[in-house]
Amino acid sequence: MPEPAWWQQRAIYQIYPRSFADSDGDGVGDLAGISARLDHLATLRIGAIWLSPIFTSPMADFGYDVADYCDVDPVFGTLADLDELVKQCHARDIKVVLDWVPNHSADQHPWFKESRSSRENPKRDWYTWRDAPNDWVSVFESCGPAWTYDETTGQYYLHSFMPEQPDLNWENPAVVAAMHDTLRFWLDRGVDGLRLDAIAKIAKDPLLRDQIGAPKRHDEDWESIHGFLRGIRKVIDEYDDRMIVGEVALQDLHRIVSYLESGDQLHMAHNFVFIDQDWGAEAYADCIADFERLAEETAWPAWFLANHDKPRPRSRFDHDGFGAQRQRAILVMLYALRGTPFIYQGEELGLPDARIPPERVVDVDGRDPERAPIPWTPGPGHGFTTGEPWLPFVEGSESLNAETQASDPDSTLHLTRRLAQLRDETPALVSGAQKPVDAGPDILAWTREDLLVAVNFSGRTVPLDVEGELVLSSVAGRKALSASLEPSEALIVRLTT
Ligand code: NOJ
Repeated sequence: MPEPAWWQQRAIYQIYPRSFADSDGDGVGDLAGISARLDHLATLRIGAIWLSPIFTSPMADFGYDVADYCDVDPVFGTLADLDELVKQCHARDIKVVLDWVPNHSADQHPWFKESRSSRENPKRDWYTWRDAPNDWVSVFESCGPAWTYDETTGQYYLHSFMPEQPDLNWENPAVVAAMHDTLRFWLDRGVDGLRLDAIAKIAKDPLLRDQIGAPKRHDEDWESIHGFLRGIRKVIDEYDDRMIVGEVALQDLHRIVSYLESGDQLHMAHNFVFIDQDWGAEAYADCIADFERLAEETAWPAWFLANHDKPRPRSRFDHDGFGAQRQRAILVMLYALRGTPFIYQGEELGLPDARIPPERVVDVDGRDPERAPIPWTPGPGHGFTTGEPWLPFVEGSESLNAETQASDPDSTLHLTRRLAQLRDETPALVSGAQKPVDAGPDILAWTREDLLVAVNFSGRTVPLDVEGELVLSSVAGRKALSASLEPSEALIVRLTT
């Protein structure tokens, strides 16, 4: 493998800015709050932060409804705050990745306001308008159909998500050019990469044919995606050493890999087959092996099991009460697989989902529990805010907070730091070949050159027949290798040759 790029070496850490750190006491996290917490990120040796959207937004979908692609929403700060954050990150050798939302704007974006104002408006065709809807439905179940009637002009407009998020029409070259310019705006400011939100959605059947009974999806992942991606990549390649990672929310590994192939589309894709499968050693082994084989030399994997849209792994995989141990094992797995680990804020603290009382529910799609604010310290406001937090903290924040974990060498925070250091100091974990190993039922195992990684997916002690020297275990207090793996344990062993 050639010298790995910055986005291949270290983990990329997702920040959900509303919930990371609040500097001004309004209960919502902001950019200055992130800048003030960079020391925490430096101890995690991350390669980059990816910020969920910080652009001007009416916040119907908390930033994924963009009203100005080239400005910062006042709730998060100013462009100057963003410049300062980028500067401070770069001083610590941390890259900055922004979240770009190409499929839809906010209904408050000036483009949409123009588009909806009359059928003759020059921006009418920047969105998709029809006299009658087809059968497409919103990704958000609670929103129902993907079409909303607009009285001003007597037509329906298309929205793959909320009605407040009208879909941009990528079949229109003027839209493509305008969106490319929004990329240049951020790349010119020194941003190192972009995460492309809902990227498969920008490519739809231009004939807008019905979905029900159709042999394939008509509302996403149309073959035109590859041309759109190549256009985007050309813009990225006008700049040195930048990166794009796509949210490729598809359930077909072949299709996901097709977004990566040939070096002129995405650098990485978030693999939704991986994140959406049930907890089980065999399913994980198959998914990893399939991706490795499909991607071969042409694509670099990205591994993630948490983000701001999915219940946190500690809660999601807690069916037998081993959720906390499993989150630790997951960290070992993500750092030791061939590919880039994506860590969602709070995973390094082993946070569970928060309990959200009905009167505090704010999200349209039930995603509040995984978006609870980060507890930094014990005590009121948990160092996150001096005000009322926009969402409640997770239960157990008195002990799960970052400060308390920092003083406990057995904490998940310390485990994550050790993993990051180990990856930094062990080229085999970054660029070493990966080979699957059959280590018995319930165990997912593989080698990276002279290292063996084994993850016990079960809540039972299982036998492990390996000779070597223990490098690291997810189980606090394990000092040496034995003939078994503890329930939900993951470990890394240097094999005796
Ligand atoms: C995917 C984002 O991760 C999610 O939070 C958002 O609601 C949708 N795309 C729509 O932008």
